[in-house]
Amino acid sequence: MKKLLVAMLLLGLGASAHAADKKYVIGMSQCNLGEPWRVQMNTDIKNAAEKHPNLEVIYKDAQNDSLKQRSQIEEFVAQKVDLLIVSPKEAAPLTPPVAEAFKKGIPVIVLDRRVLGSDYTSFIGADNKKIGKALGKWIVAKLGGKGNVVELKGLMTSTPGQDRDSGFREGIKGSDLKIVFEADMKWLEPNARKEMESALATNPKIDLVYGHNDPGAHGAYLAAKAAGREKEMLFVGIDALPQEGQAYVRQGILSASFEYPTGGREAIEMAEDIFAGKQVPKEVVLESRVFTKDNVDSGGEWLK
Ligand code: FRU
Repeated sequence: MKKLLVAMLLLGLGASAHAADKKYVIGMSQCNLGEPWRVQMNTDIKNAAEKHPNLEVIYKDAQNDSLKQRSQIEEFVAQKVDLLIVSPKEAAPLTPPVAEAFKKGIPVIVLDRRVLGSDYTSFIGADNKKIGKALGKWIVAKLGGKGNVVELKGLMTSTPGQDRDSGFREGIKGSDLKIVFEADMKWLEPNARKEMESALATNPKIDLVYGHNDPGAHGAYLAAKAAGREKEMLFVGIDALPQEGQAYVRQGILSASFEYPTGGREAIEMAEDIFAGKQVPKEVVLESRVFTKDNVDSGGEWLK
């Protein structure tokens, strides 16, 4: 018996039986949990991971602080996690820790916001340029090609903010839409509300507010409502969570919300593929839909 066991071990049979139920630890570095969309991302990760009993996910919340996020990634590396999922706050400061982890042989899936360069395993996210452009074209059609627009931008040191801005400008090119006020509200509703107060004070005629996310568009709506001017203009945002953007569309607060999927489920599925030794694509682009009053009950319309 003893001999048989030794022979099995030598043949690696014991080892392969062990590999089949090997447990893997994933470190998930979330840039903040102060926004509903990020809570949803973690929930999507949790729900997907629960289907794989061999996975354990450890979460860290950087509370919207790039330096903190950097050290949390370093902690995960020191802990020797088997894989990292990182949703970075800003591209530049989070590039070195991601690259370092990757170079040490830890697979890194970058989720939703990008880092610089290509020292990571895979990037998963929707196409923010495409969303911005589709939104621009949607506004041009909605306003009949002309009007005054306020643009409340997401954090411009994060890639979705940059892409939602450049895509939008491409989308409205050739129209007579004027951007009469623009500000960086850093993805945050209270900032958007404050910026919108300035926009209202300096602009007697505003036809539409484009918020780079739904909290931003909603903050602008609240400012306009407080000034008694919310009926003079339309509000459009991005994210389209069922309980947030889609609900605002149903309530008539937003005219449209463009979906920004979290990619949480896709990240866990990719992690399983990586653990199984499969090749994964360097980039996965998620699709998005637009929700308006007319289509919100039938599940929105996919962007082309
Ligand atoms: C949440 C959020 C979302 C937005 C995304 C962009 O932190 O601001 O509202 O779509 O990040 O990365």
